[in-house]
Parts: sequence; C-alpha cells; structure tokens
Amino acid sequence: MPTVHLHNTDIRFEQSEAHDTLLRAGLSQGIGLPYECNSGGCGSCKFELLDGEIEELWPDAPALTPRDIRKGRKLACQCRALGDITIRMPNDAQFVPLHRPRRQRATLVARRDVTADIIEFRFHTDAPAHFLPGQYAMLTLNGARTPRAYSMSNLGNDDGVWDFWIRRKPGGEVSEALFASLHPGDSLLLDGPYGLAHLQPASPRDVLCIAGGSGISPVLSIARGLLSDPALAERRLHFFFGARTPADICGLAELQRLPGFNERAGFHVAVSEPGASDNWHGATGFIHELVSRTLGEKLATLECYLAGPPPMVQATTRMLLLDHQVPQQQVHFDRFF
Ligand code: FES
Repeated sequence: MPTVHLHNTDIRFEQSEAHDTLLRAGLSQGIGLPYECNSGGCGSCKFELLDGEIEELWPDAPALTPRDIRKGRKLACQCRALGDITIRMPNDAQFVPLHRPRRQRATLVARRDVTADIIEFRFHTDAPAHFLPGQYAMLTLNGARTPRAYSMSNLGNDDGVWDFWIRRKPGGEVSEALFASLHPGDSLLLDGPYGLAHLQPASPRDVLCIAGGSGISPVLSIARGLLSDPALAERRLHFFFGARTPADICGLAELQRLPGFNERAGFHVAVSEPGASDNWHGATGFIHELVSRTLGEKLATLECYLAGPPPMVQATTRMLLLDHQVPQQQVHFDRFF
C-alpha cells in the first residue's frame, strides 16, 4: 500500500485503494489538500513530485500550463502513487473535509423532468448521505472510464437520499448516458462529497445565490440549507437565476415550498435569449447584469454563492470582485475550468 509523504511536514497518508487518486486518498483520510474541481480543470491541486513514481491519468489535463509541464508540476486529482512517494504540496485546515468522501453504490430510485433538458435524478445509498449544502459527488456509470462531477440539489440526510439536477449536455458522454439509459433500479458508483463552495453557516451576512443553467442544483441546496435552518432565520436570501429562454426557468416552485421564503427571500430571473413568440416581459440579458443593477452597493455586504457555465461564473466574479469590491472571501464557487 503506497504511502504519500508531504515534504517538510510530518503528514503521511496511505493510498489504500489502488484506483484512488492522491487527492482522494488524502481527503478520505482527513488531510486538508487544496482542490476545487477534482476533474483536472482548475489547477488548485498542483504538486511537485520529489521522490518515487506516479501514474498520470490525464497528462494533458487543461489545468496544466506549458510552464507547469516544464517545471514538472502534476495534478493530485489526476495522479496515483505507484509506490511510496514524497511530494511538495500545500495543506491547510480550511481544506479539511467535514464529511470525508466515501465511494459506494447508489441506486436510482426516481427521475423527474424539471425542464426540457434538466432532469432530477434521485439516488439512494445504504449509508447516510452526509454532505454540506452546495457540495458535489463524482458519478461513474457502469463501464465508463472516468467519473463526472455533479452537485446535489437536496440537503444532507440520514436516509441515503442524493438528488441531482442534471442538464443534458449534447455530446457529453456521461450526461447522454444518464438521460438515455439510466432508469429506476439501475445503479452507479457515487464518490463524495467534494467541494469547498458550500454554505457558510457561521457568516452573519445575508446570502446571494446566483445560478446559470444547471448551476441551479448546488445553489438550490444552499438556499434550502439557509431557509431550513432555524439558527439562520435572521438571514435574507437574494436568489438570481439566469436562463437562456423562458422555458428554461426552474427552481421557483421548490424555493416557494421552503419555510419563510415569502418573508425572507426574493427570486429574480434574467432571460438571455427571449424569442419573439415567448411573450417574455421580465428582465433580459445576462444574470450578472441584473444582479449588479438590482443590488448595487449592497453586494459588498453579502455572502455570495455562484454556480453555472464557466463564462457566466467568470463574468459574475469579475462583476462582484472588480465592479463592486466584494471581498474575495465572501465569494464562493468551485472552478470547473
Ligand atoms: Fe485538480 Fe481541479 S482539483 S485540477
């Protein structure tokens, strides 16, 4: 069983399962390794190999720049140890998982159309579904080579229930397979939870949730976590959803069922491509523009959570950090790019 030693520390952890990545091995043993996407896209998990041998699962992962490759930097979410190794990699208490990732079989118990291209998949595991609002899990379909990250839309629970709102991604191997061939009674491998962009219950600030497309899933979970916790009853919720067309709008019915929604929350939508036949009289344009117009100077006082396609997340973070000087530590998102 290979042992991973973090250089200049007394931290050692074992890669106990042969198919574990270094990142998964560390997190599952409670080591605070930095990461975000767990998918080779963000670069948060870079390390240097000082001694020993590794296997690289994706040597050309987009998070590795030509300079990284020249310098010999690797991604902990895309490497496995082939024997005992020593690596140089940061670790910090802020990355220590409250719920350590666990790999288990999950059975699909229900699927429900949310919009024309978003389906809610409900899975059940024998063990409790312990995760924080806003986190994600890695799903591996039978026969698939690589897992895909999907965020839960519900709240952690002891009943082993994991809900995901998943958008069909044309040409996406996993989402196409999920939509086409996964039916109640089928199972897949679920590994999680992961993710750092989760609800911060200790924050005294009101909450801003911004979602684009299927980014609604983690943001819905965060809204549920906020409105369902009596300890957070003083916090208000500003919920913004960016849809391409009016037919893509979703989430309001679920939010309206939450305790205190009418008194404590507002739901705002911007449609980016209203058609002439849509008869849409609401806001048009990009969601970050509507957030900026609606909340203005108030933004710097809020705890902000965002999820959605990379261009939407990039435009929204620029608006928050640069246009409105929202402190970086109040802006939460996991980069998947
Ligand atoms: Fe490894 Fe994002 S966590 S590249």
